[in-house]
Amino acid sequence: MKLIITPFDQSFDRQQFSCGENLLDDYLKKYARQDIKRNISRIFVSSTPDCPKRVIGFYSLSANSLDPELLPNNLRKKLPKFPLPVSLLGRLAIDKKFKSQGVGKMLLVDSMKRVYYASQSLAVYALIVEAINEDAKKYYEKFGFIPLPDQPFKLFLPLSTIESLINSSISR
Ligand SMILES: CC(C)(COP(=O)(O)OP(=O)(O)OC[C@H]1O[C@@H](n2cnc3c(N)ncnc32)[C@H](O)[C@@H]1OP(=O)(O)O)[C@@H](O)C(=O)NCCC(=O)NCCS
Repeated sequence: MKLIITPFDQSFDRQQFSCGENLLDDYLKKYARQDIKRNISRIFVSSTPDCPKRVIGFYSLSANSLDPELLPNNLRKKLPKFPLPVSLLGRLAIDKKFKSQGVGKMLLVDSMKRVYYASQSLAVYALIVEAINEDAKKYYEKFGFIPLPDQPFKLFLPLSTIESLINSSISR
């Protein structure tokens, strides 16, 4: 499926958007614009070339921090004790009509690329996600995200893993 992925703005039609999770639908319809304006989140949306202004999926990215105490022992030992800089993929949602067509995967890869390139100017230890339920957790795990030991719905993907993924796709 051909997709256009761009920053969200008010020109997009988001009223028809429905992913099956009211919290996420409401976020896009009511709060996304405010968060962008207040520099709290950046939102990226996908649409198709046929309907370039209809949102069929979106995700949000923001800066965040992670207490290294929350990481698995083997990683924690090699890190400083102060909060680590991370990027938060706060929301990822695909319109029900477009599910299971690879749109989520394309948005996830897009978020990783953006975080990777941003991290060349502002260091990022990992991309973290907050899964809305067990299904969403499994989805993220499929892409290599690791659950934090005591916070099973919060998962992380080290930047080193993202970097390897990007480098291997460039050299392919
Ligand atoms: C979860 C969600 C983002 C997936 O998006 P999608 O576009 O339907 O998924 P994709 O087509 O990109 O799926 C990619 C792969 O993941 C698999 N997959 C999809 N949902 C999955 C799940 N819950 N668990 C495990 N694997 C899953 C697909 O089978 C596909 O596998 P393949 O590449 O081997 O064929 C979407 O269903 C959604 O918006 N759900 C409601 C909101 C939500 O749960 N958001 C998640 C985080 S808060």
